[in-house]
Amino acid sequence: MPNLKRHIVPSLLSANFAHLARDMKLIQEAGAESVQIDVMDGHFVPNITVGPIVVEWLHKESSMFLDVHLMIENPPAYIEPFAKAGANLLTVHWEACKDPVAVVREIKKLRTKAGMAIRPKTPADVLFPLLKELDCALVMTVEPGFGGQVFMPEMLDKVRALRKRIDDARRPCELQVDGGINLRTAKLAAEAGATLLVAGSAVFGAPDPAQAFRDLQKLIQ
Ligand code: DX5
Repeated sequence: MPNLKRHIVPSLLSANFAHLARDMKLIQEAGAESVQIDVMDGHFVPNITVGPIVVEWLHKESSMFLDVHLMIENPPAYIEPFAKAGANLLTVHWEACKDPVAVVREIKKLRTKAGMAIRPKTPADVLFPLLKELDCALVMTVEPGFGGQVFMPEMLDKVRALRKRIDDARRPCELQVDGGINLRTAKLAAEAGATLLVAGSAVFGAPDPAQAFRDLQKLIQ
């Protein structure tokens, strides 16, 4: 496995939406440093989740690093409200951006880390020109929109290609995977070069989410 610092990032999409702050505390006490908040608008993806107000309250309730994944159309209209709400990392989808570079620079102007995500059908090379400005490149390993889907191993070639580009460019850019991460697929993604591995149902769908997190984190270390 490449010698990289790797982290499991639990996704709140599979947590109890009536007790999000409690579930965040649970995984923070288990050692999680960051948590992903999945924002869906019912247009970019066929599902609807949360807006800036929820991010704002979770930011007040917790010291965790908030990784906010925007699966929305027209992200430029919403990056300021989410940045002001307390997002530490804002990841938008390349497919939703008319001018991806401008969006990345806008996020960074708001003193927030900038990430760019690609859907399964989008090739990795669309991110290559952005790597010199990105803090995080996200390869979706499922079609975005729902938790509990099956990991797509064919996405690992994109992870390897981005790993090589990031290493060649000597850039401090995280390489994230999201979707279908569990005890079997986490190892595959880590070996391909991922440094941030988002896990929803494998953590919050487990009888003991804290232990499930620890087991996944130990596996990829
Ligand atoms: C899906 C979200 C993911 C999802 C992952 O569109 O972006 O973060 O919560 O859930 P699992 O790990 O269950 O596939």
